[in-house]
Amino acid sequence: MKLYLDTANVQEIREIHALGVLDGVTTNPSLVARALRQAGERFESENAFYERFTEIVREIASIVQAPVSAEALASEADAMVEEGRKLAALSEHVVVKLPISEAGLRACRALADEGVAVNMTLVFSANQALLAARAGARYVSPFLGRVDDIGWDGVELVRTIREIFDVHDLDTEIIAASVRHPQHVTASALAGADIATVPYGVLKSMIQHPLTKIGMERFLADWEKAKQEL
Ligand code: G3P
Repeated sequence: MKLYLDTANVQEIREIHALGVLDGVTTNPSLVARALRQAGERFESENAFYERFTEIVREIASIVQAPVSAEALASEADAMVEEGRKLAALSEHVVVKLPISEAGLRACRALADEGVAVNMTLVFSANQALLAARAGARYVSPFLGRVDDIGWDGVELVRTIREIFDVHDLDTEIIAASVRHPQHVTASALAGADIATVPYGVLKSMIQHPLTKIGMERFLADWEKAKQEL
């Protein structure tokens, strides 16, 4: 299973990219707004705000040189297609993120027919995932954490989508999204997700294990002791 970072924070992306484990990045409007708020950036107009969003997408793509999902904000199909084309033109690595809806499906089909990669997002059911695949989406993003939030089973949703895609030979890749903790990552890998998109904090905690820390301390202490005894 590949690992993407689910953030629009360029520092976080640079740091995790340097670890050599990053296969791509996903952003969404909430994540872009958070990154800009954290950076204390203010804008004089909506155009300037959107322009900054596209700059961030370009910067992320140039860092990771791998798929970067950027969400179209238009709500009507033709406008989504137009916005999707503009986003795709920012970099060869841009994947246009569209919400699953009638407009989203129509736009997905149009963009896919033009060769634009689409990540269909806000997927909460196997049928939505099937529709996204039929509309030519390169990726489909089931939101595990939000499914868990309403008392259903997000990992089970990923497993079901995997089975449907395998039985019917659909090559749309499954991105486990709305990942909230390291166990979601392990469970997504076991359930057959192609990719998990992981928040920075979750990825950092995947590195840690208390026994690794204790082991490293003990190795160093033994080494120091051996040096004293030379
Ligand atoms: O990958 C989708 C993600 O950004 C949404 O996560 O935690 O807001 O459900 P969350």
